[in-house]
Amino acid sequence: MADPNETKSGKYTVQRFPVVADPDHAGYSRCATWIQAVSHGFHQQRRDDEYLAKTLASYQTDQRELTGVYVNGTVPEHSLGTEVPVATYATMRKALNIGFGRQLESNLVTAVTVRGTHRRNGILRGMMTADLEAAKDDGLAIAALTASEASIYGRFGFGVATFERSIKVDTGPRFQLRGLPEGTVEVADPAVLLDVAPKVFERVQRLSPGSVDRQEYYRLLASGSIGHDGKPDTSVRCALHYDPSGSLDGYVSYRFKGWDHKPYTMEIVDLVAASNAAYLDLWRFLGSIDLIDEVTWAEAPVDDPLAWALVDPRCIDASEIRDMLWLRILDTPAALRARKFPAAGKLVLEVSDSLEMAGGTWVLESDGGSTAVVTDASGEAPDLSLDVADLASIYLGAVSPVTLAAAGRLHEHSPGAAYLAQQLFTVERSVHCLTHF
Ligand SMILES: CC(C)(COP(=O)(O)OP(=O)(O)OC[C@H]1O[C@@H](n2cnc3c(N)ncnc32)[C@H](O)[C@@H]1OP(=O)(O)O)[C@@H](O)C(=O)NCCC(=O)NCCS
Repeated sequence: MADPNETKSGKYTVQRFPVVADPDHAGYSRCATWIQAVSHGFHQQRRDDEYLAKTLASYQTDQRELTGVYVNGTVPEHSLGTEVPVATYATMRKALNIGFGRQLESNLVTAVTVRGTHRRNGILRGMMTADLEAAKDDGLAIAALTASEASIYGRFGFGVATFERSIKVDTGPRFQLRGLPEGTVEVADPAVLLDVAPKVFERVQRLSPGSVDRQEYYRLLASGSIGHDGKPDTSVRCALHYDPSGSLDGYVSYRFKGWDHKPYTMEIVDLVAASNAAYLDLWRFLGSIDLIDEVTWAEAPVDDPLAWALVDPRCIDASEIRDMLWLRILDTPAALRARKFPAAGKLVLEVSDSLEMAGGTWVLESDGGSTAVVTDASGEAPDLSLDVADLASIYLGAVSPVTLAAAGRLHEHSPGAAYLAQQLFTVERSVHCLTHF
């Protein structure tokens, strides 16, 4: 009988398979070769056995599904063999906080590569459309990814839904925060984060719109158990935050960039705070580290309370605001019903979708309470027309429909409809996603 997870057509065979983390199991070498192909696709080094074993163990914990595309028949002598995939793709399922504490299970797409010598043959399109359709058939309303280039995924209906920025914070004499600490910070052995980090993050996941539940890798990274080369990173340090009752509610892991690097800099590896006080107290701690002139963070929020807490907000040198989380709505009514809309109002939304997965016209009616009514409105005159990618962008409230209308992406048929959409889609605090995948 044909394997349902194997599709052969013309030049290529597509295989979809679960992670095997046991080196003695027959499927291990296929997974290890798949990881080498991903490294190749992202111009990273060849991975050694230790890296492969650790990575596959963490992928298995995440229950990732791997896809590899293989050349049929033979390949020229001395070139990479047919067992090495020419394209890779992986998915896992994680919760996305869609505002007001609501969690929506989402299909996270990662490890997308196509070998240069096979690109622009429609391989990505084939893998992507098959996967999105399968996720929809499985009842999921949303898919998500982070993108290496901004030009790739819009055509597949993905829209940017969260942003982040890199910051350098001057922690010299001018660094001072308003107010007083509310809790305490203690330095700890980073190994405690193996246990502590997921517990703190779980609270953040409940509180932060735009947050995606984390894969196994994060606790390994934050604790220094695994660096980017797969070896333990012994330069990682950590500090924990305790609230006034002594309960642990935040941590920061960080590393010194070395005495050759001037200004003397501490680089944040991971900063996770489950309360406003924990966030500011951890920054107070970072600002107080002796011999350090600057603290850098590559995953800082764009709308950062730190800027407003600093006596001199110009201590922050911010650069590179980047798109972070991209969303793809797979089922429009299900995605809308999942959201809480905090304002009252009624909108007829006409959604177009070139992949014909989530297009149509719906009435969205909210009384500002916990359940919105979403009904099919085929044939009704819309208040707003928009592409499914733009619906994804406004879905978490981080992108304004008014701005998208000004950009000519979203069409307002009833005056004020974009503003009403802005009020409906807003969430309770600034959207930020601390999870890259
Ligand atoms: C990006 C990548 C996966 C595309 O794979 P591919 O198999 O060549 O893509 P396809 O042939 O299926 O192309 C699908 C569509 O995307 C477009 N496209 C693909 N890559 C693109 C890029 N980098 N920029 C702009 N458009 C791109 C194609 O033109 C095509 O458009 P069309 O269907 O409207 O004609 C591949 O180039 C790659 O591996 N790049 C390096 C790793 C990487 O950046 N991965 C993405 C990680 S998020």
